[in-house]
Amino acid sequence: MSRIAYVNGRYLPLSQATIGIEDRGYMFADGVYEVCVVKNKRIIDEGRHMSRLARSLNELRIRWPMAPSALGVVMRETIRRNRVSNGVVYVQITRGAGPRNHAFPPDTVSPSAVVVARPIDREQVERVASEGIAVITTPDNRWERVDIKSVSLLPNVLAKQAAKEAGAAEAWFVDKAGHVTEGASSNAWIVTEDGVLVTRTADSGILRGVTRQVVLDLIRREGITFEERSFTVSEAQAAREAFISSAGNLVMPVVRINGRAIGEGKPGPLSLKLRQLFFTQADASPLAWTPGAIAHEPDLSDKEGNFHF
Ligand code: PDD
Repeated sequence: MSRIAYVNGRYLPLSQATIGIEDRGYMFADGVYEVCVVKNKRIIDEGRHMSRLARSLNELRIRWPMAPSALGVVMRETIRRNRVSNGVVYVQITRGAGPRNHAFPPDTVSPSAVVVARPIDREQVERVASEGIAVITTPDNRWERVDIKSVSLLPNVLAKQAAKEAGAAEAWFVDKAGHVTEGASSNAWIVTEDGVLVTRTADSGILRGVTRQVVLDLIRREGITFEERSFTVSEAQAAREAFISSAGNLVMPVVRINGRAIGEGKPGPLSLKLRQLFFTQADASPLAWTPGAIAHEPDLSDKEGNFHF
């Protein structure tokens, strides 16, 4: 089955799904994105992702390409057309296409929207989670507006590649004061020697992760002791446990930081408990699509693949 992408009003096979070379996402990384988990055919935490998308668009003064509710329909339809039960759905919105000029284009230029969905091998992710991952640290050389989920991700790309080359799965950025900010594509957490769960406040230096918010809710519900504050690399290395949170990995235990084993060098009990709690909560989300409905649902696009809401 060939993969299908939504591009500016049309559903197309990936090989035909294209964006113009003058799109500002391509020219200037002038766009924003969201990644949502699809678990058992459910989009997890859709509302929170949509709110963050609204905020990112607003901060950069990019218009919605369609009503937020319509975008939800497109996400579901993309998931359904790609038969994704477990995976991710990716949404990217840019300021649109126009002759290269740094300042914003005229209002007549429409924003561009792309949605893709792909499956994730959950068993493979679970194998990784049962062993835990290694992280390295690297200076945080990003701009100050990392609270905006912008597609401008070059420092993150370079950090992730450095991690890969060091045999690690994630890189933690470290600010000038020596505090960990966050991962290249995740938020960072530790459980201190005294058993206190710690993560940096979302006020500065990090993206307000949706998974982070969910974990904070779970922690409050379970009455787990936690502090929202910065921590150093050496505090993290001396921690009992560490983990990262993100839509792709959910709660993923960290067992090595810069080659130093964390705790006993295996996933910690609190990290695994939070991962499990996350799953239980996710299973209560509404269904994104039902396989039985596929054969009976009308195809919403016309012959050219144009989509009508
Ligand atoms: N990344 N911090 C950064 C820099 C991120 O890129 C991400 C997510 C997170 C975690 O956010 P959330 O819990 O909402 O996924 C934190 C996505 C998954 C990505 O770029 O692929």
